[in-house]
Order: sequence, then C-alpha cells, then structure tokens
Amino acid sequence: MTQAPTIDSAHSDTVPVPASAATQTHADAATYKAMYAASVSDPEGFWREQGRRLDWIKPYSKVKNTNFQIPDVSIKWYEDGTLNVAANCIDRHLATRGDQTAIIWEPDDPATPAQQITYRALHDQVCRMANVFKAQGVGKGDRVVIYLPMIPQAAYAMLACARIGAIHSIVFAGFSPDALANRINDSEAKLVITADEAPRGGRVTPLKSNADAALLHCSDKVKCLVVKHTGGQTTWVEGRDVDVLAEMAAVSGDCVPEEMAAEDPLFILYTSGSTGKPKGVVHSTGGYLVYAAMTHQYTFDYHDGDVFWCTADVGWVTGHSYIVYGPLANGAITVMFEGVPTYPDASRFWQICEKHKVNQFYTAPTAIRALMGQGESFVESCDLSSLRVLGTVGEPINPEAWNWYNTVVGKGRCPIVDTWWQTETGGHMITPLPGATPTKPGSATTPFFGVQPVVLEPQSGAEVTETKAEGVLAIKDSWPGQMRTVWGDHERFMSTYFSNYAGYYFAGDGCRRDEDGYYWITGRVDDVINVSGHRMGTAEVESALVAHPKVAEAAVVGYPHDIKGQGIYCFVTLMASEAPSEELRKELRTWVRTEIGPIASPDLIQWAPGLPKTRSGKIMRRILRKIAENDFGALGDISTLAEPQVVDNLIETRMNRD
Ligand code: WTA
Repeated sequence: MTQAPTIDSAHSDTVPVPASAATQTHADAATYKAMYAASVSDPEGFWREQGRRLDWIKPYSKVKNTNFQIPDVSIKWYEDGTLNVAANCIDRHLATRGDQTAIIWEPDDPATPAQQITYRALHDQVCRMANVFKAQGVGKGDRVVIYLPMIPQAAYAMLACARIGAIHSIVFAGFSPDALANRINDSEAKLVITADEAPRGGRVTPLKSNADAALLHCSDKVKCLVVKHTGGQTTWVEGRDVDVLAEMAAVSGDCVPEEMAAEDPLFILYTSGSTGKPKGVVHSTGGYLVYAAMTHQYTFDYHDGDVFWCTADVGWVTGHSYIVYGPLANGAITVMFEGVPTYPDASRFWQICEKHKVNQFYTAPTAIRALMGQGESFVESCDLSSLRVLGTVGEPINPEAWNWYNTVVGKGRCPIVDTWWQTETGGHMITPLPGATPTKPGSATTPFFGVQPVVLEPQSGAEVTETKAEGVLAIKDSWPGQMRTVWGDHERFMSTYFSNYAGYYFAGDGCRRDEDGYYWITGRVDDVINVSGHRMGTAEVESALVAHPKVAEAAVVGYPHDIKGQGIYCFVTLMASEAPSEELRKELRTWVRTEIGPIASPDLIQWAPGLPKTRSGKIMRRILRKIAENDFGALGDISTLAEPQVVDNLIETRMNRD
C-alpha cells in the first residue's frame, strides 16, 4: 500500500463547525445523530421516506431487498416502483423553476461568453437529443457511449439516454482510441456520441479522429454522432457519422419520458480494478437517484438558488453524481467547466467562483496542491465571499493542503467536507456534514445516513469492535446508491466485492478509526493506484507495457508524488536484444499514452534486468513499492526470493531519490 502526502495524527486537532455555517443547515449535530441512528436502526422506514424526494410514476411498496451473501448477492431498492430520471431532473421543475438556470457552462477560453441554460431550455435540448437518438434506432435498454468534452451536450446526452431508457457509458475524453474501442465493444453500444475537438487549457484533443480510430475495431453498425463544437476539420464517414446539432434542430422539442423500473440500469461506468480489464460498474435508476440527490443536498448543505460547482469531469463518477444527477434532481444551479485550473493562469478557479458567485465548491486534493504551489496571490485577487462550503474528493487530503484550502480559500468561514466514496458507491459514504460535524484535517470523519462502515482485521476478517481501530474498510449493509453488478459479469461483481470478507462490501481501502469514531482513509490495499484523483489499475499499465515489442516484462507500482498524490513507477525488463536508452524511455511513455491515455503516462521508468520473484514466479510487489517509495531500508523478509541479488541492483539504479 502506498500513500503520498502522509496523514499525520499530530495534525488531528479538531476544527469546530464555523459559526456562520451553523445557522442555515439541513442538519446540526443533534439532527445528524438522531437521523443517523434512525437510518441504521430502521433502514426500511428511513429510505421509504427518503424515496419520496423523487417523483414516481408508480409508487414503490417494497423498499429494500438486498443480500451480501455469495452466491446470491443481489441488491434491489424500490423494486416495484417506476420512474424516469430525466423527468425527475427536468420536467418536474418546469412549473416552479422553468426560467431558473439549470446549468452554467464556463468555456475553456475565458474570452468566450459563459452560457446559462434554463430548465426549460434543458428540457428542449434533451428532448431533441433524445429524438435524434431514437431516430438512430436507440431504444430502451440499448447502450450509448458518450465521448465528449465538458460541454452542455454531455449533460444533454446523459439525460437524453435516461429519457428514452437507454444506458449510457461515458468514456473520459482523455482516454485513447483503444480504451474507447474496448468500452464500446464490452457494452455492445449501438451509438457513440463525440465532438470534433475537445479544447482544454488552450490545447485541443482531436476527439473525432480518436473515435474514428476506435471505430475501426468495432462493429460497422455502430453510429457516430458528432457535436461540431470547435468547427475543426474532421473526416466524415457517410452513412455512419451524423451531425447531431443539425439533426437536433430538425426534430421535435418534445419526447415523452419512458417509464423505467427502479432497478433498470441508468448507466455503466468503467473503472479500474486490481486485476484484468476495467469493469463496467452498473448503477440503477431509482436507488441511485435517491442517493445522489440526498447526498448532494446534505453534504453540501444545498439550498434553493445556490450556485453549486463540482470541478470534476463527467467522465468520472463525481461528474455523474455531482454535476448532473444529484444537482438537477434537486433543481439546483450547477456549474460545468470545460477547462483546467491553471489556464490561462492559476486564478481561473477563483475567477469562476467570483464570476458566477459560487456557493459550494467541490474539487480534488491534487488540484488544491497544484494551486497551493502557485502562491496565495492568485486567490487573494478574487472575491470569494459567496463561498459557503468547500469539498474534496478522490484521494486522501494531506493536512497542509486541507489547511491552505480552509484558511486561504475559505478564510476559515467555510466548512470543509472531505468526502470518501467510490465509483461503486454512487455517492458519498463517509463525509462531514456542514454545520453538523466538527472536522479534522485529513479525516473524512463520519458516515452518511444509512451507511454502516466497519473496520476489519485484514487477515482474519474479524470486525474490530473497539472504537480505535486500524484495518481494511468494509460496509455492513446496503445503501440505495450501491452498484448493482458488473456489466455482463455478475460473478466478477461478487468475487471482487463480497468474497474477501464474507457478508460485507469490501471497498479496497485501508483505514484507521480514531478514538472519536472518525475515519481516516489510508489508501488502497490492492493494486489500484490513485493518480491525480484518477483511479488506475497497475495491471492495465503493465499489460500496455508488455504489449510493446521491446518489452519482456513489466511491474508497475505507485509512489508518493507531491502534486498527483501518487505517481506511476514502472520497472521494465527489456527483451535480451534491446539496450536501454532515453529514447526508448520516451517511446514507452508515448506508447502507454496511446494504449490507455495521457492519464496513464508513466512518471518514472526504471530498467530492471530482473524483477524480484518468489520461487513460484510471483512478482514481489511489496518490495518494488518500497524501492519506488525510496524506503528500501525496510524491505522486510526477502529470503523467499528466487534471486535476492536482483533487489540490490534495483536499489542501486532506483529513480526516486527524494
Ligand atoms: C479514493 C471517486 C481518501 C479511495 C469518487 C477510493 C479517497 C477511490 C477519498 C475511489 C477521500 C476517494 N479520501 N481517499 N475523500 N475519495 N478516495 O472510484 O481509495 O474514482 O477507493 O471514485 O478513491 O475512486 P473512484
């Protein structure tokens, strides 16, 4: 297990709820305690009530029907109810807030005007896109891959799918053609929607030509809808490619929402695991939306009229739940930003907060660390008086970054919500509630309503009952936002999450619980690393490397990185005929970027004439992690190695000497 900026218990002084935050909240400390107790003593009653936050076509009579026991793992919430997600996120707001802004879109280039899309305009655009999808033969249960930049059409496409009952699968625009093709094929999508180009930080990614390259490896029946966004040149395949904006202008602005069962899949989102190919995490229609909406309201203390900004990309779960579904289900004003925090300069985030009078701001520790390094002047030059709540997500936040966020950005007025959750959980699981939870820098604090975390002893799997505990984090019972299955592979769902510790959902993270019952996430305990808040399977990078003709073998581990949290450290054994060189290093780096995408770009590549292996040939990753961490004094027992001398060689030529 590697973990970058360390969470040091010496920093664990409690920060009380700021006085200003205690006045206008959905939950104070007493309400939280009472509601939490009710949520776990009577989940059925609690979630029956919470389900009413949505509009149902046919109300549910059953609430919870869940089983964590292999071989019958099955998770169902509100199973006999029917509803439509797009109707909940749009139509039901039209009577009361049709002219209120739903989405504020802030483009990459600050000189381009922002767009305010009202709920009424959102309805029109989503219906039109839904009608275009239908005209292309997409119907209930069909899959649609969305490969778009952070433009309003990404949200329209998600909601258009939801409206007609199609299942979307968003592929982050930073992924390569190969990664895109794999996801199109695994989900057997009928259609992919992309844009000509994706501008980000003043540069453009040729998305359409990536899609063209991907589609060479897919069925020729897959249609390609193209949003002409920048107007950049693209090649056009007649009969396959469709100018989606032109079609939208020509179809009706009305589309009747499809009646969906609560357990029908809403979307698939591929995420990295410790082994094999990324898996398609499947989320539901009813339970997911209840959970996304409720967490959005409580965790951010969202009130009508507030401007909420989550800086994530819709290609990740954070963008699904907290740019689109949670906020829109709540009738919120949600900001969508196309660019990056440092373009044109390091004040961009804060300028946007000032410009749109953002009330709740939600970002990743890696962004905070990067901006912290640029100095305070970029923050000081902006008026941040509208901010009320600051959130973080994606990786452990180190106390230095937490304190900077608190004092420099929040001026000590804004509660910080450090939200622990996962693609699989659909929404926040462990998080402070503003106004209710005193915080500790580096701790995600206490569980959300209905969530029952436990700390397990890693070897025996026994539940540690003392408050103060250390071990692996698991969840005892289901919550509505939980993933339902792995697309096309329920066995893999059961074996990944329910087999290590029978009867629990195993999160894959290590954690510590302190004497106050606060949770401190210490990072992954499997072969997943967290690079700039992006989840990456080391196995994926390894298989990309060994696919290169000059590479014989590769082992990939994470190592502490000041900005990214973790960096990607590769040990590479070359074919006997090959000699190491700087050019080859560059070549391998480019190769991995092409195979997976720029987010998987290796930070350090060490030539390894041999890798430490057990006598049965298993690579000893524990040792490689230590070398990558530059902590080789504590290698532990290496007597089981087949050739102990390879370790000395690797230590001598190690790349990370910080
Ligand atoms: C890590 C992102 C510490 C964790 C929503 C988890 C965190 C993985 C936090 C999921 C946090 C997420 N503190 N670690 N507040 N939030 N993580 O699926 O290791 O992209 O298992 O979901 O990120 O990453 P994913």
